[in-house]
Amino acid sequence: MGKLSVSILSADLAHLADQVKLVEPYADAIHIDVMDGHFAPPITFGPVLVASLRPCTPLVLHGHLMIEMPESQFEELAQAGMDIVSFHIEAVEDPAPVIRKARGAGMRVGMTVSPPTPVESLFPYLEELDDVMVMSVYPGWAGQRFMPEALPKLEAVRAELDRRGLQADVQIDGGVKLDNARRCIEAGANVLIAASAIYQAPDPAAVARELKAIAEGRA
Ligand code: DX5
Ligand code: ZN
Repeated sequence: MGKLSVSILSADLAHLADQVKLVEPYADAIHIDVMDGHFAPPITFGPVLVASLRPCTPLVLHGHLMIEMPESQFEELAQAGMDIVSFHIEAVEDPAPVIRKARGAGMRVGMTVSPPTPVESLFPYLEELDDVMVMSVYPGWAGQRFMPEALPKLEAVRAELDRRGLQADVQIDGGVKLDNARRCIEAGANVLIAASAIYQAPDPAAVARELKAIAEGRA
């Protein structure tokens, strides 16, 4: 059940379809970092990019919404072809209606926590979620250093999901590299997200293949 989700934040965006094709044999999803210049300082991608990418790949398109009022984008993202959205608990006052709204738009839904936020804050919602994403860098940029403080969070959420018999994915996002990926899987993640480890490498496909093997426990 181990998966690889490739973040296009480090890709050569002038050749996005080719960059996605490079990793397609090893990736389960494309991770699209949506930022609004408020919740996270940069401005990145939105529904227009998703609509362009959708016909280029059969992979799951997963939106990581680092934006205020995430619910305001759900309809447009869904229409553009987004399959699943993960919003930040820090960005909403009451997650329950936001979760319902994402499903109402026809998408699967997850939630995510920034480094200062305890993962236990997501526990009241676990039954409603398709995935939990633990951030191991601050929202904003690819290429930051992995924060090992994320590892006990992975352990805690995996233990709680197991205790309740839930199947949600546990994703780790930020600074994931070949040299720390196995620790993330051992701690309880079943989805590795990576941008710079793949797209800054001389051979992105080779790194993607290796990360996928680690996610699946084959390496
Ligand atoms: C950071 C983004 C991450 C980022 C990961 O705000 O949410 O998804 O793309 O990039 P790397 O893998 O380079 O840390
Ligand atoms: Zn992300």
